[in-house]
Amino acid sequence: MKNLLAASLKYQDNQLFVLDQYALPHQENWRLCQSVADMESLIKALKIRGAPLIGIGASLLVAHLASEQQSKAQLAQAIAQLRQARPTAVNLMHCMDKMSIALEQDDYELALQRCAEAIFEQDIALCNSMANFGNELVQEGDNILTHCNTGALATAGIGTALGVIYKAHQANKKIHVWVDETRPLLQGGRLTAYELERWQVPYTLICDNMAASLMAAGKVDKIFVGADRIAANGDFANKVGTYNLAVLAKHHGIEFYVVAPTTTLDIECENGAAIVIEQRDATEVTGVSGSFGQCQWAPSNAQVFNPAFDVTPAELVTGWVLDTGIYSPLDVHSGVLRFL
Ligand code: MRU
Repeated sequence: MKNLLAASLKYQDNQLFVLDQYALPHQENWRLCQSVADMESLIKALKIRGAPLIGIGASLLVAHLASEQQSKAQLAQAIAQLRQARPTAVNLMHCMDKMSIALEQDDYELALQRCAEAIFEQDIALCNSMANFGNELVQEGDNILTHCNTGALATAGIGTALGVIYKAHQANKKIHVWVDETRPLLQGGRLTAYELERWQVPYTLICDNMAASLMAAGKVDKIFVGADRIAANGDFANKVGTYNLAVLAKHHGIEFYVVAPTTTLDIECENGAAIVIEQRDATEVTGVSGSFGQCQWAPSNAQVFNPAFDVTPAELVTGWVLDTGIYSPLDVHSGVLRFL
């Protein structure tokens, strides 16, 4: 397979490497990924994360296993196992479905490699397209609030919501970004801050619970967030805390946009209630861990509720920025997402 390079994933000289996002920003460790067990544990530990990237990483691994002469049955098993590594982001399922189709070809080794390469390259193009559309919404001097990490680290390209921000910055629009730290795993504080720093985009880090007072003070012009799955009616799942922002935005009359590739659409899901929400380990809430070690502050036996995502109802969304264009509530209400 040919060499492929993204911000946090690379296929080089027939080996797959993942940049450990759990160790960022203080350590840049590339992990070699050689087996389904490796990839599964990297995905579950969020060392590789973000809806598009987990699908791309899993696809590259399957193609790599095919190049190592694994049998058709072993590859089918690998696809089935990886498909279940995380339950909410539909991109992973769509990618594994494409790889299953490739596996049916006579020359399945080549078909799987071409399919994985196409998934990787298509994502770069989808990111550019979303960013170009989203940039049309950004005005000179906007203060933009974002949640979680939706940048180059989470995709093969420049990202989804953060890709829009990057494009607006490149267009010299003099924007400033409010970065939600994104408890419990701090993807905003660790990863979005790291990316904006590298891109030299002016930003200010805030705790998630500071967004309301910023909005009340008139300091947020627009909100751009990503998505892990968008249902047919426009409801969408994204990192927990997104729904809070959407409610706050409605109250304060602030534009609230979701930015995602069409590979995040799941028209089999009629609405957000059908989206499976991943529940994660209590230790993520009772304390914090990372490259700096582990710290626990809550009592060891505290009861914990830790959903990784929440669902934002379509009625709170100003616009859906996809790679195919920007869709209004009227478009989405009339069922346009079913035909993309
Ligand atoms: O649990 P994570 O870090 O994988 O969650 C990521 C998000 O919620 C992102 O907003 C979403 O995947 C879109 S990334 C381009």
